[in-house]
Amino acid sequence: MGTLTVMSTTIRLPRGYKRLKAACRVPATTANLGPGFDSMGLALTLHNELAAEVGRTNKTVVEIVGEGENTLARDESNLVVRSMIETFKHLDRKPVPVWVRCTNRIPLSRGLGSSSAAVAGGVFLANEICGRPLDREDLFKIAAKIEGHPDNVAPALLGGLAVSVGDQATGFHALSVDLDALTKWKYVVAIPDFTIDTAAARKVLPKKIAFEDAVFNVGRASLVIAALLKGPGKAANSVLKEAMNDRLHQPSREKLIVGRQAVMDAAYKAGALGVCVSGSGPSIFAVGSKWANRIGEAMVETFNKQEIAARYEVLNVEPAGTISLGVHNF
Ligand code: HSE
Repeated sequence: MGTLTVMSTTIRLPRGYKRLKAACRVPATTANLGPGFDSMGLALTLHNELAAEVGRTNKTVVEIVGEGENTLARDESNLVVRSMIETFKHLDRKPVPVWVRCTNRIPLSRGLGSSSAAVAGGVFLANEICGRPLDREDLFKIAAKIEGHPDNVAPALLGGLAVSVGDQATGFHALSVDLDALTKWKYVVAIPDFTIDTAAARKVLPKKIAFEDAVFNVGRASLVIAALLKGPGKAANSVLKEAMNDRLHQPSREKLIVGRQAVMDAAYKAGALGVCVSGSGPSIFAVGSKWANRIGEAMVETFNKQEIAARYEVLNVEPAGTISLGVHNF
């Protein structure tokens, strides 16, 4: 049983906790990549930074700077905290109050993996505080279970281009690749100024799909992976547009993502090679080999024409996933 003196209070820590302050960096992610619904995702160079400590406060304290600072929960219901607690429980540690600080740059509810970043960061920090008993594969499985679907948490934790499968019944499996070819593409995300709740976006999905639509997506999902890993060049460039087509989720979400088709058309006209909805939207994700700013400006202008404020980011693939920013002993 360790003790830590904070001001005049002595906080007793149950067995299994280290007196550490741990910090990490978690990337944004874009999931689905068009046809790869719930199974494909790419980590991007836009990051949140999280820090956590146990034994510092007698009750859970969450400090938030940046995205969500006025809206996200600051108690045990905060997703970073819940993910830490789940990980403590997984490790048979008695849950304790945590102090957490989030510096958030990933926009919320825009299809860029903000909730998965919170889950990945929480699971990662809990493992640090318990002395790193779990490996990344373990962390992914815990995070996927918390999130419910694995396609954002896999790249958030593992980095690169991650392919993942599974559900609560079958268990989760993921593999990430981080090849030079991935860094040669230009990735542009147009982020409109409205939000979509993923749970709501999942409610509009079809319960059943036609066999031919399943075949349509299986082939295209495979082709997206092949094209991205091959890298920019005549062969991959010429298939990306067809490869990023989807019949599983984008059609039924049409009404939620105001301006989707017009923005995607504008991106193609400006030189994008493949364009899709990022995650469950509303951000639009474009892949090109050049003209990244031109593509971004075209997408933003098209949102603006529909009286929707928007901005764009030109990003690269984040190869590392969640990384430690240091662990401090007391
Ligand atoms: N695959 C998920 C969806 C990503 O499209 O609902 C959102 O988290």
